[in-house]
Amino acid sequence: MVVAGVARVASRISSMPLLIKHGEIVTPDSRYTADLWCEGETITRIDRDIAPPPGAEVIDAGGKYIFPGFIDPHVHIYLPFMGTLAKDTYETGSKAALVGGTTTLIEMCCPARGDDALAGFETWMTQAAGRSACDFTFHMGVTKFDGKTEGQLREIVKRGVSSFKIFLAYKGAFGIDDTELYRALKLARELGVIVTAHCENETLVAERSKELLAAGKTDPGQHHESRPPRVEAEGVHHLMTFAELTGAATYIVHLSCQEALDEALAARRRGVRVAIETLIQYLVLDKSCAERPDFEGAKYVMSPPLRDKRNQEVLWNGLRDGLIQTVATDHAPFDFANQKPMGRDDFTKIPNGIPALEERINLLHTHGVKAGRLDLHTFVNVASTQVAKTFGLFPRKGAIQPGADADLVIFDPAYRGIISAKTQSMNVDYSAFEGWPIEGRPSAVTVRGQVAVRDGRFVGTPGWGRFLQREPTHFG
Ligand code: URP
Ligand code: ZN
Ligand code: ZN
Repeated sequence: MVVAGVARVASRISSMPLLIKHGEIVTPDSRYTADLWCEGETITRIDRDIAPPPGAEVIDAGGKYIFPGFIDPHVHIYLPFMGTLAKDTYETGSKAALVGGTTTLIEMCCPARGDDALAGFETWMTQAAGRSACDFTFHMGVTKFDGKTEGQLREIVKRGVSSFKIFLAYKGAFGIDDTELYRALKLARELGVIVTAHCENETLVAERSKELLAAGKTDPGQHHESRPPRVEAEGVHHLMTFAELTGAATYIVHLSCQEALDEALAARRRGVRVAIETLIQYLVLDKSCAERPDFEGAKYVMSPPLRDKRNQEVLWNGLRDGLIQTVATDHAPFDFANQKPMGRDDFTKIPNGIPALEERINLLHTHGVKAGRLDLHTFVNVASTQVAKTFGLFPRKGAIQPGADADLVIFDPAYRGIISAKTQSMNVDYSAFEGWPIEGRPSAVTVRGQVAVRDGRFVGTPGWGRFLQREPTHFG
């Protein structure tokens, strides 16, 4: 019902024909200058010197790159978590995404363990449909697994969700046990669904946290002591064992360190089907941020935690060499003023998350491309095309070719700016990157042919975003 309602909203809005001239088109395997003609929500022609027809909107992209719309494969917009609710809504979150060049969101649909999967799916759909200005889809959280849930998961896959999400962490909240893990992976294998996974050993986290608190170590800097790299590596090793024995296709979310990467690569070498995601936060921030005094470190508490700086080069090299497939944000915004302080006297109660949805692309360009760590093609691949391929969206998304959705980012590499919470669109009261310079930004962004950002400013339409149905693609 909800989806039908959205179709009604969207059908009242239409995109006028659009001509984008003189831009330098960059995809993972090509780079050339041409004009783009978009009509009826898709790219219909790519050519030299297309004459502007009457009635069309024309954008001059001279001196700018044109990238396929970026896709964030791991965000939380609606997230009841750790006794509070993440701050963004689909109105604010999709606006922030678009200003930052992200035209498709893949959100983790995370019903509580006590809730039905299908009811959870419908709740998340209600949050997004009719509100989102950009397109969206979900990874379906499997937060328990029994006969009833299995039937509901089959139904959710039929409705167009072809990826699951499981948590090996968050004991008592989203975490599942090994029997559930085994059965969920077997179902995924049967249905051709890829399983995304948060990998940390929850028993180790719980025991180490108790020990630290008992020793009076309560500050935000203890968070990373409670879940060191080996805790994540053990989670990856565990998932890889289950993936090997079930044959399921897996995707490790938010991989943060060398130890975890080594486990994933060892499994891949023996034939386990595994793709790897890292986050922009792990590429540019390190654990010293979470050690800042006066509770400032709470701004940087997330799980897995920020790591020792040496891991940054490991992750950049992993992206460059194709060992790591994607860069996400795991966007999870909690205010510093009145949500992070829930854990002022106990680091285990600090709501986990570092907001970054708006800044992912600008930071990846600044610290990846401009710093000489990634070439432009790899940049586009890890933040758009490879995401689309992994999650059954390609070539509708992640491509610049006739027939693809006209999701385009006209990116000005000459722009220079400073990140600040005062000017951001994300609905949260701080920026983890306050005062950081950026080199380049999206100057215009389109979603299925409709201009959603002009001169760096949001001009889109809440409700224009559509739920993207995806077919299972991971059989065999
Ligand atoms: O700290 C994090 N990552 N917060 C969001 C929930 C999750 O684990 O993805
Ligand atoms: Zn997670
Ligand atoms: Zn997450």
